[in-house]
Amino acid sequence: MSDELVRAANVCARSKAAVIEMFGDLRMGRVIQVDHVADMVREISDSLMRHPDALINLARLKTADEYTYMHSVAVCGLMIGLARQLGLPPLLVQDAGLAGLLHDIGKMTIPETILNKPSALTEVEFETICSHPEAGATLLDHQYFSLRVLDVCLHHHEKIDGSGYPHKLRGSQISLFARMAAVCDVYDAITSDRPYRRHWGAAESIHRMAGWEGHFDQKVLYAFVKCVGIYPVGALVRLRSERLAIVMEQNADSLLIPKVKVFYSIARGMPVAQELVDLASGQDAIVGLELEKNWGFNHLETLWTEGVCRDFPSCRPASPSCK
Ligand SMILES: [Fe+2]
Repeated sequence: MSDELVRAANVCARSKAAVIEMFGDLRMGRVIQVDHVADMVREISDSLMRHPDALINLARLKTADEYTYMHSVAVCGLMIGLARQLGLPPLLVQDAGLAGLLHDIGKMTIPETILNKPSALTEVEFETICSHPEAGATLLDHQYFSLRVLDVCLHHHEKIDGSGYPHKLRGSQISLFARMAAVCDVYDAITSDRPYRRHWGAAESIHRMAGWEGHFDQKVLYAFVKCVGIYPVGALVRLRSERLAIVMEQNADSLLIPKVKVFYSIARGMPVAQELVDLASGQDAIVGLELEKNWGFNHLETLWTEGVCRDFPSCRPASPSCK
């Protein structure tokens, strides 16, 4: 995991630059370099092959400013992980990644003042935002992408109960790829900082999404949970030993016994020497999830990123050059 975090950090940085270039090309009316985009998806896919937890969790740690670009990279990684979890063949896994990378391409037609507005949107602004799926599908219409990719652009905001947009599709009217994208898109959006709100923790987000009736396809959501974990990497958990720990890595055989890093004693009310514990050994166990905000911890992510800074992979969090 720690080796792949460094490599994934590099992949994220390169992918972000490539997405910025791709958005720029489209703005200038140029054709997207399809080979270029496909290579990027393959790089992201290879990172997930080497370790499924590194890139998808690292891509979650984005600043509000870089959200538009890093969200594409994050959803690409999540779509690839979810497609593999669903047992799709390699060609469709690659297409799922492409669809994730391009799903919000229509947002480049929306003014940034609206996209990043820190206060409530007016009715007109909301309607403008809701035009991005159709704008995206139009933009990609004359490019060389599959119909599945176009469909994800157009329908990733549809909901199973028919209350989504733009076409109020319901149930099986929504393609599998669009149902997958709906889950990946929302998960990354709510676990990321935005100009108008702080992120929710990964585990808290999963829990909330499971409670939104009529929003997601339940089978797809279940596969997604198997992919990111009931206790995703970075989740703050309470152990039977009355200690707090951060989830470091999933266990391929059981979602309930990940590897964790213990760092705090609840009984003593103070940090303790950090210790990596593989819960598969049975020496301790998770008794529940804790909310970061209830403990007032800041920068818990430095515990599981192990010093890897996404934009500057070689520097440490203590370095002033790190954001
Ligand atoms: Fe969207």
